Amino acid sequence: MKDHYEEFLSKYKKVLEHELAQSIDRLNAPLVLKEAMDYSLSAGGKRIRPLLLFATINAFGRNPDLGLATACALEMVHTYSLIHDDLPSMDDDDLRRGKPTNHKVYGEAIAILAGDGLLTYSFEMITKDKNLSDSDKIWLIQQFAQNAGPEGMVAGQVADIQAEKKDLSLKELEYVHQHKTGKLLAFSVMAGAKIGGGSEEEILYFQEFSYHLGLAFQISDDILDVIGDESIIGKPVGSDDGKFKSTYPAILTLQGAKDQLAYHTEQAKNTLHKINKDTGLLLYLTDQIAGRNY
Ligand code: IPE
Ligand code: IPE
Ligand code: MG
Ligand code: MG
Ligand code: MG
Repeated sequence: MKDHYEEFLSKYKKVLEHELAQSIDRLNAPLVLKEAMDYSLSAGGKRIRPLLLFATINAFGRNPDLGLATACALEMVHTYSLIHDDLPSMDDDDLRRGKPTNHKVYGEAIAILAGDGLLTYSFEMITKDKNLSDSDKIWLIQQFAQNAGPEGMVAGQVADIQAEKKDLSLKELEYVHQHKTGKLLAFSVMAGAKIGGGSEEEILYFQEFSYHLGLAFQISDDILDVIGDESIIGKPVGSDDGKFKSTYPAILTLQGAKDQLAYHTEQAKNTLHKINKDTGLLLYLTDQIAGRNY
């Protein structure tokens, strides 16, 4: 089964990356803007959000290709969030996806605008999708905006910045992680369930799954910031410590963070077991996320 899952993941990673490149190519926009958008988009990355979306559509027995425009939109919003996250006024990092950060190459003004371009273009991508019904598109756009915006990822990024040099409770830290990272992962699987033709109840099961998956994902991001290998994770190690960030290892110790990672991974998998769909690939992805060193 592992080979079959890996084949699915590498196939859809290629499909996604091809479509991302094409969609930037198609833009009638200033060359430097297209280059800066493409620079960060094509730099690599795990593509975990699009892959979760494709895997969830697949769990419903529908053709994952139906999610291609939404998958591109997700990766664009995620990439914009990374460009802005790395800016000097935010995490001030110099390395991303194994390359100099966007502002190091294009300067802060173009980096900010490349992020703006990716964010807005993502919504245009969904509106232009020829595969989905208008009512599905409206649902997707609304959920996407809500999960990425001021009640979602942006709220989490604000909370993250405000938590610097502070001692948060575990509950407060969970809020940060659930919003800055969990919300976009939530949209990935909820969108997959919607495009897969899932009922409202089924979509909610996927939201519950993503709550634990999102925490597991960001806890392992925090752990890798402490014990990761820069040449593998493609971004600086020790960035959080240097910024006095509130993280799981900072609050709970490294072992405490690892225990929380194991707990949320188990809970995510338990939720998947309750869903009466073909969730083998999602279980596989959950284990990959929990055990990753990249
Ligand atoms: C990094 O996301 C930022 C977080 C939300 C943790 P990823 O770990 O998915 O980064 P890429 O896309 O693989 O570069
Ligand atoms: C970033 O969290 C989350 C978003 C970009 C929304 P981090 O600041 O921990 O992500 P990395 O470690 O820089 O990738
Ligand atoms: Mg950050
Ligand atoms: Mg950061
Ligand atoms: Mg991090």
